[in-house]
Amino acid sequence: MDTSTRILIIGAGGQIGVELTEALNKIYGHQNVIVSDIKKIEGLDENSFELLDVLDKNRLLDVIKKYQITEIYLLAALLSATAEKNPELGWKLNMEGLFNVLDLAKEKHIQKVFWPSSIAVFGPHTPKKNTPQYTVMDPNTVYGISKLAGERWCEWYYMKYAVDVRSIRYPGLIGWKSQPGGGTTDYAVHIFYEALKHQKYTCFLREDTMLPMMHIEDAVRATIELMQAPAHQLTVRSSYNLAAMSFTPKELAEKIKKHIPEFQIHYAPDFRQSIADSWPQSIDDSYARNDWGWKHVYDTDKLVENMIVNIKNKI
Ligand code: SER
Repeated sequence: MDTSTRILIIGAGGQIGVELTEALNKIYGHQNVIVSDIKKIEGLDENSFELLDVLDKNRLLDVIKKYQITEIYLLAALLSATAEKNPELGWKLNMEGLFNVLDLAKEKHIQKVFWPSSIAVFGPHTPKKNTPQYTVMDPNTVYGISKLAGERWCEWYYMKYAVDVRSIRYPGLIGWKSQPGGGTTDYAVHIFYEALKHQKYTCFLREDTMLPMMHIEDAVRATIELMQAPAHQLTVRSSYNLAAMSFTPKELAEKIKKHIPEFQIHYAPDFRQSIADSWPQSIDDSYARNDWGWKHVYDTDKLVENMIVNIKNKI
């Protein structure tokens, strides 16, 4: 066990935070993983918890000092659908939270930062298929604009101040241990609960909406592998493209029907459709594969089976 690493997870109660905490506990020991959020978290009882708003930089510094934190995973954010409804808070939280953490890293209070970006950094003029690492980026959502700006700042802090910041452009993340909150890809989690509870689901995206997706176990493993990779291997200090699979709601529903034959899906696209329409359908992640050996484990069939088995047990 590595005992020199002391981790602070900010936004640990969210979809990624819950699973990331579990995975980091196994590697570093729960005594070295401090969890924080703006509200009390259920279920992460092994870990020390701090009530923390990332916009409060003084309190953030106090927490860093109290636990002698060396690495921060900054997961607090408003996602695409929520930020579209609350643009001011979306911009403030997503940008000022990042600045607070990058500045404390620049001042050497911490050694390493992970910050998530998203496929939302791409926009309507980005090539939609096999979207390259470097390409046209014209995001037209508050969330996408904040993530693209954040990526540029991460690279700037790295180049100007040697801040060791690492980042991934997550696709839609799907897992059974935690719930997504406020994203455009959330349907791909909700559909499993509804299929198992009520054998029907009304999807807020059109049936042919192809989006890049990933099992959250793969995403968490990627995150930790990137954080553990030797710095000299990393050629991207903005944010890495990362991919596993792509599917449409219709394709996902067909695969669910193989397990639950009576499952029915209906479509009632809402404002999230235009967000999804501006995003890529599939992602070229060769930089992640070449630089730090990224490999996904879950394809769509394996993901569907894993979700159905585990959610069935849970409910
Ligand atoms: N899953 C996220 C969202 O839909 C994308 O980063 O907002």
